[in-house]
Amino acid sequence: MAVDLLLGLQWGDEGKGKIVDVLTSKYNIIARFQGGPNAGHTLVFNGKKHVLHTIPSGIFHEDAMNLVGNGVVIDPVIFKKELDKLAEQDVDYRKTLLISRKAHLILPTHRLLDAASEASKGKAKIGSTLKGIGPTYMDKTGRNGIRVGDTELVDWKDKYRALANKHEAMIDFYDVDIQYDLEELEKDFFEAIDVLKSLTFIDSEEYIFQAMKSGKSILAEGAQGSLLDIDFGTYPFVTSSNTTAAGACTGLGIAPNKIGEVYGIFKAYTTRVGSGPFPTELFDEDGETMGRVGHEFGATTGRSRRCGWLDLVALKYACQVNGVTQLMMMKGDVLSGFKSLKICTAYRYKGETITHLPYNIDPENVDVIYTEMNGWKEDLTKMTEASQLPKELNDYIDFLEKELETPIKIVSVGPDRKQTIFR
Ligand code: GDP
Ligand code: IMO
Ligand code: MG
Repeated sequence: MAVDLLLGLQWGDEGKGKIVDVLTSKYNIIARFQGGPNAGHTLVFNGKKHVLHTIPSGIFHEDAMNLVGNGVVIDPVIFKKELDKLAEQDVDYRKTLLISRKAHLILPTHRLLDAASEASKGKAKIGSTLKGIGPTYMDKTGRNGIRVGDTELVDWKDKYRALANKHEAMIDFYDVDIQYDLEELEKDFFEAIDVLKSLTFIDSEEYIFQAMKSGKSILAEGAQGSLLDIDFGTYPFVTSSNTTAAGACTGLGIAPNKIGEVYGIFKAYTTRVGSGPFPTELFDEDGETMGRVGHEFGATTGRSRRCGWLDLVALKYACQVNGVTQLMMMKGDVLSGFKSLKICTAYRYKGETITHLPYNIDPENVDVIYTEMNGWKEDLTKMTEASQLPKELNDYIDFLEKELETPIKIVSVGPDRKQTIFR
């Protein structure tokens, strides 16, 4: 059976965790393929909110297997905290959680390096979540990294020491004031490694291959969003992995011709956390309303998210790069009460009107061209059927489907599992 993908199409936080949780009943296996604890995926059911960082969002379903793929980077300390929270909820994760031996480990010194690198950049900082993501992927591509499977080797602590020593020298090189007690950090790290080692490590590409062969259904869960992709995002204000469809191939070992549906998920408006260009960003009351009503605070760092109108130029680009086959629109409920809604349909770029995402979308290069539509007044949060959706929202959806040439199959009207309308 083919593998379906669920990908964020904006700058992350589109609502991937919620939708993966909703879709899990249709799948045997949920697999994360990139990113790490920089992600924060929120699930809400039975009146309770859960935030996952590295563990796939299918973990609350007893029957689904959850795989942390080779493309993911794991911080054992954060991973252990996630496991502890699951245990509090009586989730029997030992039966349903698998970890790829090829996934790379985030060391305490990777986190310190991230902090040193950001501090040294001053105003030009990326706005990283400071979870050590960039330095860990650098060691991976630099062929210096330590993988989950290495912890099964007798001499792995020597390998660890050599790398940590090198990192300390690099931290000194940055010449910024980073205070740390490595001994203390390592105590937590090695304790957490023992917990990690009590879980099931697998050769995950073989597992996926056999699962496909025996007809199991698999959903690959993306982290971050297309505009944070290392190649296709707003570089350098991006994360350090491929968040787009291709990342699922390298992050799990799936051949491109084995990809089935590509679900693309987006908010009815746009948010971004961290630095970097954001052409439709609002600095007025409308942006403030989106942030307040949408509770736009980072699930990992608690930072407030920047808010703005929907950017169709960027969204179309994300649909193309990923080959999106179905769309899911989240947080339409947050726009209830806006008299009119703006949608960016083109950019004015170097004197020309363009509808593709150019090399550079810094504010001095791009002016936004908007189409305006009527808003809706109705509270959507109690609606359960597509037939209940107000006319103006249907007009908004029709417009987007036409522009994006892709059907919108799910409209989400609140954070809870149940607040999900299928079209
Ligand atoms: P993810 O990183 O893509 O999983 O998204 P996050 O969990 O970081 O952020 C999405 C936020 O929006 C979370 O707080 C969700 O509970 C919430 N959410 C998801 N869908 C909806 C929706 O349709 N309406 C509202 N109001 N909130 C939603
Ligand atoms: P989910 O999966 C939103 C952003 C950071 C920063 C940049 C680089 O919850 O959608 P990094 O820690 O990777 O070095 O940060 O990317 N970022 C996210 N923004 N959602 C995320 O994940 C993000 N993961 C990283 O804010 O701007
Ligand atoms: Mg998030």
